[in-house]
Amino acid sequence: MGQPEIAQEHIIVTGGASGIGASVVEDLTGRGALVTVLDLQQAVSEERPATVDYMRVDVTDEPAVQTAVARARQRGGQVTGLVTCHGIRGSFLPALDLDFARTRNVLDVHVLGTLAVSREVVRGLEGAPASIVTVSSTTAFGGWEKQSDYGVAKAAVRQLTENLAIEWAPLGVRVNSVAPGHTLTPMVQEMIDGGYDPGAVFARTPLGRFATPGEMAASIVFLLLDATFVTGQCLAVDGGWTVVGK
Ligand SMILES: NC(=O)c1ccc[n+]([C@@H]2O[C@H](COP(=O)([O-])OP(=O)(O)OC[C@H]3O[C@@H](n4cnc5c(N)ncnc54)[C@H](O)[C@@H]3O)[C@@H](O)[C@H]2O)c1
Repeated sequence: MGQPEIAQEHIIVTGGASGIGASVVEDLTGRGALVTVLDLQQAVSEERPATVDYMRVDVTDEPAVQTAVARARQRGGQVTGLVTCHGIRGSFLPALDLDFARTRNVLDVHVLGTLAVSREVVRGLEGAPASIVTVSSTTAFGGWEKQSDYGVAKAAVRQLTENLAIEWAPLGVRVNSVAPGHTLTPMVQEMIDGGYDPGAVFARTPLGRFATPGEMAASIVFLLLDATFVTGQCLAVDGGWTVVGK
């Protein structure tokens, strides 16, 4: 049996030019959805289906986000869904060594960037239902060393998801989150190139490997389109990472 047809959907994907976001775009366009990508960069892949529109936008620039979402609506019609897959790495430094300019940027990109795009989409819904999936991280579960920027930002995204789910349920908007475990994307490849040890990750992960971006996209699309009575949840897609030692 093939994938269900979702040609009536118009979904915005932030960070859709690379990694997990690019896989979400591929999954959605493969099912026939119209997709608008908002990203700092152009698509990394050369293959661009005609049903994807790429706009270069910094999600921390609120006026630019407002313009982009309005243009997306003009070109693709009512927005029915949003996936916020944009993101940057943290400093991976002890709290005592954090440079606050960079810390502010990490918080800004992940937390305010997610909020800026989400509320711009919701403001334009005019009573139509919609679904949002944000992207958190396993670092949002519990305490970790060297995660006082990125981990705190991702915990805030998880919390924001719960708050927005409650505020926007009466508007017919579901808001959920996926917390990826280690997923082999350009972001993680960069970490490995900088000396991060995949062997230690595999040893700590019950399923013993990295996730693929496609596996992450499948869970995101499930929450976005199929899980119609789920809202406010954060689904850890992590090969068992967060249940170790529970
Ligand atoms: N890869 C992992 O193992 C992993 C684990 C946990 C969480 N995550 C999260 O998943 C999301 C996707 O990560 P990825 O691994 O695919 O990374 P990636 O670097 O491959 O893709 C991130 C995309 O976000 C875009 N982006 C960054 N800042 C932006 C901004 N200010 N405005 C617009 N676009 C911006 C980048 O240009 C890039 O295309 C991120 O939120 C990341 O924190 C990833």
